[in-house]
Amino acid sequence: KDLAGRTAFVTGGANGIGLGLARALLAEGCKVAIADIREDSIAAALKTLDNQDVIGVPLDVASRAGFAAAADEVEARLGPVSLLFNNAGINLFQTIDESSYDDWDWVMGVNLNGVINGVMTFVPRMKARGAGGHVVNTASMASFLCGPAPGIYNTAKFAVRGLSESLRYSLAPHGIGVSVLCPGLVKSHIYASDEIRPDGLKAGARPVDSAGVERLREVHEFGMEPDVIAARVIEAIRANRYYIFSHPEFRDELREVFDDILAAFRDYPEDPGFQQRTGFEKFR
Ligand code: NAI
Repeated sequence: KDLAGRTAFVTGGANGIGLGLARALLAEGCKVAIADIREDSIAAALKTLDNQDVIGVPLDVASRAGFAAAADEVEARLGPVSLLFNNAGINLFQTIDESSYDDWDWVMGVNLNGVINGVMTFVPRMKARGAGGHVVNTASMASFLCGPAPGIYNTAKFAVRGLSESLRYSLAPHGIGVSVLCPGLVKSHIYASDEIRPDGLKAGARPVDSAGVERLREVHEFGMEPDVIAARVIEAIRANRYYIFSHPEFRDELREVFDDILAAFRDYPEDPGFQQRTGFEKFR
């Protein structure tokens, strides 16, 4: 796919992976809109990128109306969006049994509904124009591998993977590719997610553990550079590859998960007449 001249919409584009994507897309000759809830970060990103083909648009991806308005504004200024990056995300390191409804609403609202809103806003426009395109949804290795603590995050990221895979089959006939980005640790700002928790969802929040946030900040310093991730994404879009992995060190853990799943089938016998009776062959 030649990306030059296309318009890209990158959520969470003002920091971390999204900013890396914006930089890589500009280098490919795309026009780029960075949509982000942090307006100060948008201003800083525009300054760093220093390119006339990029604009910023304030957006809370959890807002359906906000998404539609941002899409209208960007398409009026940069032309039809045919590259969509649903990348904005937050983290909350907390177990499910210690979480409140406000925690669920916050994390699912951004990390899952944000992706749903991007798809619901842009996919009909992309289909109607018939000019193809590509959607990249940022999931995580946490869309395969669970720990106790990021319980809601795991839930949202698994769902983003399900959404992406199903969408991939339904959009293939329209020449619109779909990829799911599953990084491990990346150098980013995600440790500071508490800063942007909406006031309306703070009542059910546990007190911010500043020492924990500081530890996370230090850990993220060791993460992969967003520009490296972005280069893999560009490559995958060109080749229309679905899975985008950046951290091969997780391969063995992933294999353990799949081995566990297959082993759990044990040697139960199959129902021999099932296919004939139901006409059901395969999911995909
Ligand atoms: P980041 O915090 O550096 O960048 C995320 C951007 O999204 C920020 O600029 C933030 O202001 C924005 N954002 C947050 N909530 C938003 C909302 N409601 N509406 C609009 N913008 C919003 O973090 P990072 O790491 O670059 O995150 C990008 C994606 O990568 C997220 O989906 C995250 O879950 C995922 N990811 C990150 C990993 C890491 O180690 N940093 C690993 C795997 C996945």
